[in-house]
Amino acid sequence: MSKLKKILTKDGSVSLRSLFFQENFHSLEGALKETESKFINPSNLKRFKDKSLNVLDICFGLGYNSASLFSNLIGQNSFLNLYALEIDKRPLEYSLESELFQNLWDPKVSKILKSLSQDCKYKDPFFDCHILWGDARERINNIPADIKFDLIYLDGFSPQKCPQIWTVEFLAKVTQRLNNDGYLITYSSSAAIRKTLREFGLYIFNIKPTKISKNSWSNGTIGIKKIDEGSLKRNIFFEKLSLMEEEHLLSKAGIPYRDPNLNLNANEIIQKRVQEQLLSNLKTSKEWREKWGMTK
Ligand SMILES: C[S@@+](CC[C@H](N)C(=O)[O-])C[C@H]1O[C@@H](n2cnc3c(N)ncnc32)[C@H](O)[C@@H]1O
Repeated sequence: MSKLKKILTKDGSVSLRSLFFQENFHSLEGALKETESKFINPSNLKRFKDKSLNVLDICFGLGYNSASLFSNLIGQNSFLNLYALEIDKRPLEYSLESELFQNLWDPKVSKILKSLSQDCKYKDPFFDCHILWGDARERINNIPADIKFDLIYLDGFSPQKCPQIWTVEFLAKVTQRLNNDGYLITYSSSAAIRKTLREFGLYIFNIKPTKISKNSWSNGTIGIKKIDEGSLKRNIFFEKLSLMEEEHLLSKAGIPYRDPNLNLNANEIIQKRVQEQLLSNLKTSKEWREKWGMTK
């Protein structure tokens, strides 16, 4: 099994680096900070006060997104039904052993995580949680067919490193599970992902960055099936795509990742896309970047 390296991020929270994927689990700016700014804040959890919600956490990892979700819901009497998908048991084992991680949360959060690690489930009058171990491309089929999700967190490694989680075929399965007024939330602002989601009929929004610069214009993407303009205006965390982002979707960067039978490896998926890009007459990503004055 490939190695995971322990990391301490700038906000004092712990994370991991995968030597296999050659990528960190979180931004070095802060694992906790990333969870809050990219997943929890845009979720607008207050709308579920005293209500029930269904959440799907894809690529659970150390469990930051779910732990932070639990932590926010405990104080507001919400009834949570959660499914998590993850291929590797070690990140959760690591967070359970880490005092720095455990100190971030209410003891009930640690109890839920421990139960997920030991029994793959946790249940009390407010929380009904399950984790399905294995390749998300297969395990998503084991979630009961009648469950639609109010929130779907998509937190795989980047499309270039782990395209299996970002293909048209996998995202189709994910989108089918989204409630009409549910939010599909990801940290990725990849044009290929945004275009794929839009082609499924989702409205796409940009998660506003915490600090804006030419090279940091997004904190991710939200896809919604049916929008209510009023609640949209009240949400301070996301906004419609800018002209620059719309043009990104029309460049070669918008060409999707494909995995027709949901069984290709990363290299096969990347090669398939490169071939499609080579045959395309669309503007290159480099031309798009130059037009909008980006340096990287
Ligand atoms: C960026 S990390 C997730 C970070 C996580 N949300 C957290 O809070 O720590 C990506 C995760 O995707 C998992 N992963 C990679 N390929 C997968 C697959 N095909 N199915 C399910 N999980 C996968 C990795 O094991 C890793 O834990």
